[in-house]
Amino acid sequence: MPFYSAYKALGHYPDYWYWKLRPYPKRPPHLLKQRTVREYGKRHSLRTLVETGTYHGEMVAALKNDFDHIFSIECDSELARRASRRFDANPKIRILQGESQVVLPELIKSLAEPALFWLDAGYYSWAGLPRDLQRLPTELAAILGHSVRGHVVLIDDADTLRGLEGAMTVDELPSRLTAHYPGRHVEVIDNIVRITPEHSPKAELD
Ligand SMILES: C[S@@+](CC[C@H](N)C(=O)[O-])C[C@H]1O[C@@H](n2cnc3c(N)ncnc32)[C@H](O)[C@@H]1O
Repeated sequence: MPFYSAYKALGHYPDYWYWKLRPYPKRPPHLLKQRTVREYGKRHSLRTLVETGTYHGEMVAALKNDFDHIFSIECDSELARRASRRFDANPKIRILQGESQVVLPELIKSLAEPALFWLDAGYYSWAGLPRDLQRLPTELAAILGHSVRGHVVLIDDADTLRGLEGAMTVDELPSRLTAHYPGRHVEVIDNIVRITPEHSPKAELD
């Protein structure tokens, strides 16, 4: 695990420059995702990050100095155990093991201030796991319906929201969300859906 994490981290810069210099691959590199999450946190003055899908803890490791509290939710018990061990010494970080659609609505009850949500738990496809198409709507309802206003949501892999079996497509997302939760701005850039409170500062990335 430590070797794999170091190997992955070393690859972030080549991956980023490969993406910058070539038209392909279109898949945004992890470094760009890290910068996007960091930038949204800064622009919206958010001190808490909630991530779904810890995986090898790359996002947590990259952003551990940018937030006061980081919660990361992972359903795979082995990945969660390794990440817990890795970040055990850091009191700002908590790895929560469980299904994000169950853990996130519980966790949010304890938040008293707006937070940044990085939703990245392979919502419509992940390693052949059975898909629960209600996961994303369940988590969005918990976040956007929460009594604390001002949460910001970033959803990775926008291109996977393809309306499978009646689930919402990325094109339907803005109208569906704003119909239920007015006062939000929704846009997709670099394959990341960005849901921000209307009239809030926009993130500008280099
Ligand atoms: C794309 S990876 C996450 C990458 C990570 N967020 C990052 O930026 O480095 C997706 C992760 O989501 C986890 N996952 C899949 N379904 C989940 C669920 N229902 N609840 C929590 N985690 C889930 C997978 O086990 C995997 O570790």
